[in-house]
Amino acid sequence: MELAGLSVREDAVGNIFGRWDGVEPELAAVATGSHIDAIPYSGKYDGVIGVLGAIEAIRVPKRSGFKPRRSLEVILFTSEEPTRFGIGSLGSRLLAGSEDLANSLKTTTDIQNISFLDAARSAGYSKNEDDLSSVFLKKGTYSAFVELHIEQGPILEDEGISIGIVTAIAAPASLTVEFEGNGGHAGAVLMPNRNDAGLAASELALAVERHVLDSGSIDTVGTVGILELHPGAINSIPSKSHLEIDTRDIDEERRNKVVEKIHQSAIKITKTRGVKLSDFHVINQDPPALSDEAIIKAVETATKELNLTSKLMISRAYHDSLFMARLSPMGMIFIPCYKGYSHKPEEFATIQDMSNGVKVLTLTLAKLSSH
Ligand code: GLV
Ligand code: MN
Ligand code: MN
Ligand code: MN
Repeated sequence: MELAGLSVREDAVGNIFGRWDGVEPELAAVATGSHIDAIPYSGKYDGVIGVLGAIEAIRVPKRSGFKPRRSLEVILFTSEEPTRFGIGSLGSRLLAGSEDLANSLKTTTDIQNISFLDAARSAGYSKNEDDLSSVFLKKGTYSAFVELHIEQGPILEDEGISIGIVTAIAAPASLTVEFEGNGGHAGAVLMPNRNDAGLAASELALAVERHVLDSGSIDTVGTVGILELHPGAINSIPSKSHLEIDTRDIDEERRNKVVEKIHQSAIKITKTRGVKLSDFHVINQDPPALSDEAIIKAVETATKELNLTSKLMISRAYHDSLFMARLSPMGMIFIPCYKGYSHKPEEFATIQDMSNGVKVLTLTLAKLSSH
């Protein structure tokens, strides 16, 4: 960002902002950006394109002598992925003013028991602060936020379309669940005398699938991405199990029903299997977000001016844009990715598609910054 001539600011959790002052710097700025963190065994395009692409989308008009009326800002968001601290879009959620998150981060630790605040401090952030409310931004800080991202689905590639214009972002919920039983010796404890926490978890995993399918909509999805058994020995009956469940929908109410049914199933399983439900925690249950009409129009116009094909679509993945929408009008630009692969190493986007996306972003920012 510094090399691109931007003035750089970092906040207490490591969100990084690069600003190019407009002709009227007192006006709300137009922002763009994404994340560069990744889940284990993932690809290198998810997020990164929206940060490097954003810097390029500012370098080009700068080089060509363009003077934006509103200032332009690139934002690199901290921890979009929930991998380390268990909560997705940590940076943008805080920017949008989540008091709950600011409070819970005071006691949040990672798997090695390193607290969030210590981790932030050792990375050079949050030096004298326990109160993360300094990160919150005021509504109206930005007049628009636009994020460039790979589609993470197969539609654009299948249909041979260059640009996806996002109209809405689906609503995610994440849960953690723990069962406890008596455990014991895998040979000595007879089957009628067991309360196996591992089997309780297995039953709940299948219940998640059942409840999702019962919604009757192809838009409802659910995943048990983490399932851990304690003590994790072949000859020991699991005495504890830990599940992390992700469920999403474009319909918030329908997704909330799935969350409720998962809870009911967990309670039922404690009765049939004689285990204890030692934890059932809804980490987040977010509402969906709609893109702003004027931003959709600006992206559409930019696409046409570049003679690129486009299509309106929803985002089934969540993004920092979901939370930036709480602060400012929001829009997203999608580009095709190989076979729709994402969150796995085969993730790929061509130079041509990335370049198209950056061009559309550049023109969109130029338009939005002129109004
Ligand atoms: C975040 O990357 C998500 O959509 O799961
Ligand atoms: Mn991701
Ligand atoms: Mn992403
Ligand atoms: Mn995402």
